[in-house]
Amino acid sequence: MGMGIQYLLSRMFMLCMSMVFSIDMASSSSSQNLQVQDQLKILNKPAVWSIKSSDGDIIDCINITHQPAFDHPLLRNHTIQVTPSFHPEGVSAQKQGIGSSSSRTNSQLWHLNGRCPKGTIPIRRTRKGDLLRASSIQAFGKKKHRAFPQPRSADPDQISQSGHQHAIAYVEGGKYYGAKATINVWEPKIQQPGEFSLSQIWILGGSFGQDLNSIEAGWQVSPDLYGDNHTRLFTYWTSDAYGDTGCYNLLCSGFVQTNNEIAMGGSIYPVSSYHASQYDISILVWKDPKDGNWWMKFGKDKVVGYWPGLLFSHLSGPASMIEWGGEVVNSESNGQHTSTQMGSGHFPKEGFGRAGYFKDIEVVDASNNLRVPKGIDTFTDQSSCYDVEIGKGAKWGTYFYFGGPGRGPNCP
Ligand SMILES: *[C@@H]1O[C@H](CO)[C@@H](O)[C@H](O)[C@H]1NC(C)=O
Ligand SMILES: *[C@@H]1O[C@H](CO)[C@@H](O)[C@H](O)[C@H]1NC(C)=O
Ligand SMILES: *[C@@H]1O[C@H](CO)[C@@H](O)[C@H](O)[C@H]1NC(C)=O
Repeated sequence: MGMGIQYLLSRMFMLCMSMVFSIDMASSSSSQNLQVQDQLKILNKPAVWSIKSSDGDIIDCINITHQPAFDHPLLRNHTIQVTPSFHPEGVSAQKQGIGSSSSRTNSQLWHLNGRCPKGTIPIRRTRKGDLLRASSIQAFGKKKHRAFPQPRSADPDQISQSGHQHAIAYVEGGKYYGAKATINVWEPKIQQPGEFSLSQIWILGGSFGQDLNSIEAGWQVSPDLYGDNHTRLFTYWTSDAYGDTGCYNLLCSGFVQTNNEIAMGGSIYPVSSYHASQYDISILVWKDPKDGNWWMKFGKDKVVGYWPGLLFSHLSGPASMIEWGGEVVNSESNGQHTSTQMGSGHFPKEGFGRAGYFKDIEVVDASNNLRVPKGIDTFTDQSSCYDVEIGKGAKWGTYFYFGGPGRGPNCP
């Protein structure tokens, strides 16, 4: 009988505990839900028109004057610059139209299902699932700290600890007013969540300290950010070394978009196949000498928009370093290197049609001319996993092949 009462009491205690617990759970999940809804409201502005893409994305056409940039405290009274005051000229302007007949340029998958009207800009809609995949709502749309390749002052131990691996070409020591490249597009395999693979240009200002300024553009595969394995066009910016400022695409206020055709974060279509059709995208980022904004051009003539100069400290002036190349996250489970691929997933020595490439690599000089970069050098964290090989030719200008398969016989 004593046992019975004790049992009853302990049952009642457990019941109470579980009630308290479930009330607690319910309130915390509903407050998380509210936070998610609030954040979605900030990210997704009311759409003038929406387009469903066959990859599952929804592209919202947002009134250009209602875009996320204008949530930024410094941009409340900002007047949109419709066009840059200046387009850099030089080597590639003369070469335009010649091109290499063996590779083709491409565009975005959602174009198959519609276009955004004039006066609007296309923005990939963020959904609840996108936010819930992030480690926190604050972390959504941001790179982790120390995500930059750091060639010269490289401390190999420190770099492999950060889990990011790079195979890049770079120039430093000059004053750079922009950079350009044509980047071969692939769909590298990602081994597991938490990892990504990207190919991009970095425009860097300041030192590799807490105040690093960076403007980035290229393509990426990131299941964490997008919920799938598609190759997507992306941009990034930070003015404090991936700390509080900046984000991917238009996932925070900063970048001012002027173009109604290109959606940041939208899938690129088609992508290259091994020993078959090759596709590439051209990206140019340059500083407008008049107002100091950094503009971005996609392909031959699509001016996408700009990062206002006032977002930056060091990059309110010229960049001090430019990098081109690939980056992956190696989360090294069970002490094994990841099999996440960089570029095509094949080493540079395989060459055209098999290895990924950057070609027509150029920088913008102080007189706003595109120039072949002087003193270009290469860097890899672990060349037996991902490598880079630079070359120079009449047809491709300065170029390199890069990438690799990750885990393999020489990359255990
Ligand atoms: C924007 O304009 C208003 C009214 O002219 C002014 O009070 C405010 O300080 C301005 N804000 C910025 C960030 O310039
Ligand atoms: C955008 O909004 C402004 C006012 O906020 C309005 O005058 C304009 O017509 C809108 N444009 C479109 C394409 O809806
Ligand atoms: C992405 O690819 C990996 C294998 O590389 C697969 O395990 C995963 O299910 C894919 N994710 C999606 C969302 O398709």
